[in-house]
Amino acid sequence: MLLLSPLTVPNPPENSHYHFPQTRGFLCRQKNNMADAVVQSEGRSGGIVINDDWTGYSLDLFSYPAHYSGDLDCVIIPHGVIMDRTERLARNIMDDLGDHDIVVLCVLKGGYQFCADLVDRIKALSRNSDRTIPMRVHFIRLKSYLNDQSTEDLHILGAEDLSFLAGKNVLIVEAIVGTGKTMKTLLKHVEAFGPKMIKVAGLLVKRVPHNSACLPDYVGFEIPNRFVVGYALDYNEYFRDLNHICVISEGGKNKYKI
Ligand code: HPA
Ligand code: MG
Repeated sequence: MLLLSPLTVPNPPENSHYHFPQTRGFLCRQKNNMADAVVQSEGRSGGIVINDDWTGYSLDLFSYPAHYSGDLDCVIIPHGVIMDRTERLARNIMDDLGDHDIVVLCVLKGGYQFCADLVDRIKALSRNSDRTIPMRVHFIRLKSYLNDQSTEDLHILGAEDLSFLAGKNVLIVEAIVGTGKTMKTLLKHVEAFGPKMIKVAGLLVKRVPHNSACLPDYVGFEIPNRFVVGYALDYNEYFRDLNHICVISEGGKNKYKI
C-alpha cells in the first residue's frame, strides 16, 4: 500500500495512460500504478482502484429494490464497502483539517448521500476525540447529464452568491469525477469568492479517456469508464433509491431513456 500525505504528488507511472498535471488551487495528482489485482488499495492517494476487468458481484448475492430487476448488470461497489471507505476518508479529513472550521459544499443531487454519510462520520469522530471540526453545510446543484451523456452546458444552481466563503476553509463533496471539467468549472467559481483553502472529496473517480487531469484530495474509489448508478447517483433521476453502486444494463438504459 502506498501511503501519501494529501499534498504529495507521486511520480508518473510508466504504464500510466492518462496524465494529471499540477494546477493552482486544486491538487492534481499523477495517477498511480494500475496493479494486476482486481481491487487494489491505494491508501490515501487515488482511492481503491477497481480495474477494468472487474466484472462486479452478481445481483443475486445482495438485496436491492425489486423495481430495478433487469435494469442492472452487477454490483460494482456494495453499500457496506462504501460506508467503510467513507469512514476512512472522514478520518483522513479529520487528520488534515481537525480544529479548523469548515464549510462543506455538497454538490447535489448525486452527492447528497455521500455528503450525508461523510459528515456523519466526521461528526462521530468529533464526538469521540479531543479534535473536532466545526462544520457548516451548504448545498449547490450541478446539472450536465442527459441519459448517460455529458452535455456541454453546465448549470450551477444555488451558487450565485457564495461570498460567505471568503476566508473560509471549504470542503467540496462530490459523488463522481469524470473528465474533471465540471470540477474545474466549479473550483474556478468557488475560488472567485476568496476562500482560505479548498479541498475536494470525491467518492468516485472514473477512468475516462480525456481526463482533464484533476483529482480530488480525498478519493473513495477509482472506477472503470462505465455508467454507474445507486447511492444517489442517477440515470435520468432513477436509481437514487438503490444502496449499492451498480452498473446499469442496456435494458435499464432503454427503459429510463428520455
Ligand atoms: N453515473 C451517474 N452520474 C454520472 C456518472 C455515472 O457514471 N458519470 C457522471 N455523472
Ligand atoms: Mg445525474
